[in-house]
Amino acid sequence: MRDFLKHLFPRVVLERNLRLTYTFCLGGLALTTFLVLVLTGLLLLFYYRPSPGGAYDSIRFIENAVWGGRYLRSLHRLASHTLLVLIMLHALRVILTGAYRHPRHGTWVVGTMLMFLAVFAAYTGYLLPLDQLAYWAARTGMELLRALPGGAVIFHLLVPDQIAGPLSLQRFFALHIAVIPLSMMALIFLHFFRIRRSRGLLPYL
Ligand code: HEM
Repeated sequence: MRDFLKHLFPRVVLERNLRLTYTFCLGGLALTTFLVLVLTGLLLLFYYRPSPGGAYDSIRFIENAVWGGRYLRSLHRLASHTLLVLIMLHALRVILTGAYRHPRHGTWVVGTMLMFLAVFAAYTGYLLPLDQLAYWAARTGMELLRALPGGAVIFHLLVPDQIAGPLSLQRFFALHIAVIPLSMMALIFLHFFRIRRSRGLLPYL
């Protein structure tokens, strides 16, 4: 634990590791966007109702009756798209600079997990408004998943009743607001720990 904290909050950081031209701060921007998502998501939670009868109405209420609600919802949606773009660009930068190689394997693997979780978070969030777009996107995604080898097991875990049924909506909701964000937070800490552990960013090599 002491080792973990020491690497998370080092006393000294090399000046050249903070140069923007090398990383374009893409990882830092991804972190900032993630924090915007958490904050706007927490505010949306004050009004959203995860039930087949209440979800769509609560979204309409947020849009039309809550002060700043439309802006808040748009910001959450925009940030989710931005996060995916930033993660892809960040991964591309890592590939182009060869930073996935030893001793940065661990950072790369944790990053890949973060990428999958971010896509999964966006997908589970897509169903929550329970409008036509959400319903058909969830349905198409789930049918595709079921067609994959072993996909039927995950399908039945995610959709125990029917697409957009009470229990599946509850599960998408739990994944979207708790399981995925908390796992991402833990992995982001681990990502930063691994970066410190491999003695900072690539110019160190
Ligand atoms: C929520 C997602 C992510 C966040 C918040 C994040 C954050 C960061 C930050 C702040 C850095 C420091 C340097 C920089 O800004 O480029 C970094 C470095 C790194 N990231 Fe990520 N990252 C994420 C996803 C990923 C993904 C998807 C990959 C690859 C599949 C990845 C692989 C790496 C590697 C290998 C380094 C070390 C680069 C070097 O030493 O030059 N990260 N990350």
